[in-house]
Amino acid sequence: MIMAGISASAPGKAILFGEHAVVYGQPAIAIPLLQLQSKVYITANPLGTPDEIWFSAPDIGLAQDYFQLPDGHAFKAVVDIIKGHFQVDSLPAMRIRVVSSIPVASGLGSGTSVTVSLLKAITTFLGHPLSEADVSRYTFEIEKIYHGHPSGIDNTVITYQKPIFYIRDLPVEQISIERGFSILLVDSGINSHTSDVVNDVRNRWQAATVEFESLFSAIGALTIQARQALATGDLPRLGSLMIDNHTLLAKLGVSHTNLDKIVDAAMTAGALGAKMSGAGRGGYAVVLSDQGHINQIRDTLSAIGFLKSFVCEIPANTIG
Ligand code: PMV
Repeated sequence: MIMAGISASAPGKAILFGEHAVVYGQPAIAIPLLQLQSKVYITANPLGTPDEIWFSAPDIGLAQDYFQLPDGHAFKAVVDIIKGHFQVDSLPAMRIRVVSSIPVASGLGSGTSVTVSLLKAITTFLGHPLSEADVSRYTFEIEKIYHGHPSGIDNTVITYQKPIFYIRDLPVEQISIERGFSILLVDSGINSHTSDVVNDVRNRWQAATVEFESLFSAIGALTIQARQALATGDLPRLGSLMIDNHTLLAKLGVSHTNLDKIVDAAMTAGALGAKMSGAGRGGYAVVLSDQGHINQIRDTLSAIGFLKSFVCEIPANTIG
């Protein structure tokens, strides 16, 4: 049965360890950012004709019909994937509104989150919500349009909304967190596109395979240690592994002077650890702090020009 009006949402995400190396088969750790959300609202258009699907996404200035969207546009790709899933030639007329509080081009999963919300909302509207496995799988297909070689970590953490330990092509594992902690996410002020950075790393890996494979392996090894530190609640160890991971990412050539400045200033102000997060060359840095230092770190970063940041609480859990 087609619903009169529905909504669906999905969170943002941050990668704590292992970005880039995860594309080459190494493990990575990611968490959902539940206070950042994309949301999709759908209402029926009973007078419309089949496939008359109106999209409005005020945050990105989009107001367009399905037929007007260019090939390769994620919204169009979502509709086409749903048609293929249900083996139908058209979908009923509907109006779709997309809103999001997730910063774009910042490594926080904004595009992936919107795709997950759209898949959930449209299939719920049609009366046949997809399983989480299908939402994740189809989101991965759409990610490939944007960067040819996604690892699958973004669609997985955003669909399942749990902290995960992820190795591509292996079943996803939820991670155990012995002690809850706070992270501060800090905007470097630079927008960056994942596909550009991922493609550049691929070119550099092809040109210097031995060196890059050894950097990826080192990142993988410290990601395994980070999982252990989370499971035992060893936050100082977790922090020092973040610094090591940042250093290795800088060696891959994916950091940015602003990200390095955030990491240095946060550590001077008493952080336990800090690193860039996501594809890099911009986007956000993630800072690990105990409660006693978080305001001091925020003030220090504001004073040197990094005004946009937010705190995220990661609760303990009882997995494993
Ligand atoms: O979407 P971002 O910027 O968080 O980058 C995703 C993480 C990468 O490891 C760089 C790419 C991938 O597909 O895993």
